[in-house]
Amino acid sequence: MIRKCLFPAAGYGTRFLPATKSMPKEMLPIVDKPLIQYGVEEAMAAGMNNIGIVTGRGKRALADHFDVSYELEHQISGTSKEGMLKCIRKILNECTFSYTRQREMKGLGHAILTGETLIGQEPFGVILADDLCVGEGDGVLAQMAKIYAKYRCSIVAIEEVPHDEVHKYGVIDGSELEDGVYVISDMVEKPSPEDAPTNLAIIGRYILTPDIFDVIRETPPGRNGEIQITDALQIQAKRNMVLAYRFKGQRFDCGSVHGFVKATNHFYEIWKQNEEQV
Ligand code: UTP
Repeated sequence: MIRKCLFPAAGYGTRFLPATKSMPKEMLPIVDKPLIQYGVEEAMAAGMNNIGIVTGRGKRALADHFDVSYELEHQISGTSKEGMLKCIRKILNECTFSYTRQREMKGLGHAILTGETLIGQEPFGVILADDLCVGEGDGVLAQMAKIYAKYRCSIVAIEEVPHDEVHKYGVIDGSELEDGVYVISDMVEKPSPEDAPTNLAIIGRYILTPDIFDVIRETPPGRNGEIQITDALQIQAKRNMVLAYRFKGQRFDCGSVHGFVKATNHFYEIWKQNEEQV
């Protein structure tokens, strides 16, 4: 039912400098696949095959990754390595890719508004590729699409985090509607532990209704002078219902070195098992 998924990928990735000086953070590989590809596969598993990517300067590698590489294909065609390109070929066959550039990094809310031209007037998914999610059963975005089918409103994915880490996240307050689904009454961006209403933190998965674009347009810059999606969702929650969904599965914060290494270890074990079976 939801066809489009937006990937805001214009950030500087300063926590990974110097690796991200001339390479997008989203192209950093976890074992043998770049972060963005895990995200695109999750979107496809949720039925969202129209992929929109908000890029910035120095991010051309993203568009090149989701394109045919004739020389490479020619070089390895007919060899034992051909299988390595199979999953990317499937993505290219089944998805469309559109790009737009965020010229100034004015925050995640602004990046999403920049993507309006790719989305238009329909509900859409949002994936922040540096949050790498492994769903239990369905992928996380597919789990959220099921909730959307029932309630037809914006939804943010949340997870419980330790109280001393709430300052890194947007945090929600709300009442539980059904198991793991909350109606949001309040949201705070990066609160101090004393100011945090709960330890339910927003992670990088959203389903948004298209009225969010008008709301972002009227959202003033918030923390760090950036236009925060949390602030826009707070306004939307006051006007309509916005839900938070405690997803089933695991998330790796690959925007930090610690989370990146954890994800690498996790996927290396899977990779090793596959190798042993071959
Ligand atoms: P982050 O807060 O992780 O920022 O952005 P960052 O620049 O990517 O990384 P650090 O903190 O400097 O290491 C969260 C997501 O929002 C996107 C980023 O690309 C990332 O996917 N984003 C953020 C934009 O696309 N534009 C912005 O102006 C800000």
